Amino acid sequence: MGFRRKSRMDSGRGEKNMSGKLCVGLACSPRREGNTAILLERAAAALRSRNVETEIYRLADIGFSPCMACEGCSSTGKCVIDDGAMPVYDRILKADMFIMSAPVFSMGICAHAKMFIDRAQQFWAAKYLLGRPVVEDDHFRRSRRGIFISCAGTKIDGVFEGPVKVAGYFFKMLDIRLAGMYCYPGVDSKGDILSDKAALDEIRDASIKLVSG
Ligand SMILES: Cc1cc2nc3c(=O)[nH]c(=O)nc-3n(C[C@H](O)[C@H](O)[C@H](O)COP(=O)(O)O)c2cc1C
Repeated sequence: MGFRRKSRMDSGRGEKNMSGKLCVGLACSPRREGNTAILLERAAAALRSRNVETEIYRLADIGFSPCMACEGCSSTGKCVIDDGAMPVYDRILKADMFIMSAPVFSMGICAHAKMFIDRAQQFWAAKYLLGRPVVEDDHFRRSRRGIFISCAGTKIDGVFEGPVKVAGYFFKMLDIRLAGMYCYPGVDSKGDILSDKAALDEIRDASIKLVSG
């Protein structure tokens, strides 16, 4: 697996490459090279094979704080906390494609993902309080798309309900059309997903499909 000990794991040029497309991936699990990270890397590899610039950010390596509910963003549309989350949001706002991978923890989306999503309150404020689009260019905004990937250790009914709901909200806040959600139950130990060829192939195919819109 190509995950390195940096928050930004792909050392792309930081701009869109020759294909003109940029995909940002968010690895939300604190488990390095865990199941959701493996699936995200699979997706990124498929996109790179189509000349899409990929940048993967691992939330556990990014110093960022939870939302303090200070309501600072209500009047500006911008979070008052200037930390590691902000540059990642900037890249997501520039991305044609976005892939979020986050496991189920305690029947919900993992804490790092939830913390990052709560900080997106600034985009909710921009949109719904200040009437400002999060992504200004209409054509670009309409073209943005992505997928959500999750794994859970159990196969309990409804185990993905919380994460799916929260991820759907997040994609909407960021003006990203959710092209698909890929949730794999019964995947617990680190690397278990590697023995699920169907899942690996499904993520590869879903990522390639993203490129054409
Ligand atoms: C703190 C914690 C809480 C968890 N809670 C649940 C849970 O409520 N339901 C479940 O099915 N699996 C739960 N799991 C198992 C993970 O969802 C599973 O191991 C998953 O494959 C982890 O993905 P990762 O390797 O990408 O981190 C939990 C794991 C941890 C570490």
